[in-house]
Amino acid sequence: MESTAKITVHASGTYDILISKGGLSGLGKAAAERFKPCTVAILSDDKVFPLYGKTVTDSLQSAGFRIVTHVIANGEQSKTLDNVTAFIDSMVKAQVTRTDMVLALGGGVVGDMAGFAAAIYLRGIPYIQVPTTLLAAVDSSVGGKTAVDISAGKNLVGAFHQPALVFLDTETLNTLDPSVMRDGFAEVIKYGIILDSKLFQAVAKPGSFDIKEVIARCIEIKRDVVEQDEFDKGMRGLLNFGHTFGHAIEKLSGFSITHGSAVARGMIIAAKVARVYGFTDYTDVITKVIKDYGFETGCPYSADELYSVILSDKKRSGADITLVLPKEIGASTPEKMPALQVLELMKKAGL
Ligand code: GLY
Repeated sequence: MESTAKITVHASGTYDILISKGGLSGLGKAAAERFKPCTVAILSDDKVFPLYGKTVTDSLQSAGFRIVTHVIANGEQSKTLDNVTAFIDSMVKAQVTRTDMVLALGGGVVGDMAGFAAAIYLRGIPYIQVPTTLLAAVDSSVGGKTAVDISAGKNLVGAFHQPALVFLDTETLNTLDPSVMRDGFAEVIKYGIILDSKLFQAVAKPGSFDIKEVIARCIEIKRDVVEQDEFDKGMRGLLNFGHTFGHAIEKLSGFSITHGSAVARGMIIAAKVARVYGFTDYTDVITKVIKDYGFETGCPYSADELYSVILSDKKRSGADITLVLPKEIGASTPEKMPALQVLELMKKAGL
């Protein structure tokens, strides 16, 4: 096994993110170095637990932790308040106390739900993130945003609750469906466009880089953003690049277009909008990379359709909308504008 990289986040809680290639069985040791022996309530899903549940359980048990497990069905449809309640019920039955911990073993759904359960159970207990998808590794496992979906929309109920440890073994990504892996690359490309042109160049050609190094760089960028704006009142909004349009595409498709694929198309729309807004035109540069990863690049919805969904987005404040636009590759900026201007820009950009 190669050496483990360590990135430390200083937010409302200070925690380490450990990144290895093949180090999953070292989880127990890493946990024992940081936490007293306690009960660890694992939340996982029925795709991930059969693959990695035993390694994680054995490792934690050998290090002196008691394990209880709750497994949900894989997929976004599981990210409900009812499933959080069921997980909490299982923790009550297993007598999990305030000095115990939750552990998320899986992708973004499991991570968001486990984090939310940990945030509200007994008014908050610590939790560990063990992300097993690229998207969870570079985005959702870091930064303390936890949530579930309700009928009115995705992630509408949640809390900020920073993890106590993030433990990533990049080998767990090897079992991912290629389309799920590709979805994660939309977020990787996003980091390059918003804040790091070198990262963008490094990942421009699929497969030509060391995935562990790329993930570590994305996490460093997210760490820097979260340390400056943990509660999403300012520059953390940069992480929404491509997401305003992406969320609208996802919703209009009835979620048949995946998050990553929608964000990829959203980044292209943002580039087109930036051009008509008066910034340098990076549409071709961004479209090429997204295409090379195998994403669809066209948007099946009109400006009016996208706009109606954008208007109902929870992140809109008042009559203004903040769009993150690429001024340069590696230097995107939040541009606040009247909502109607977004519609006009989209139409001008040919949507
Ligand atoms: N995924 C966006 C954020 O963590 O702010």
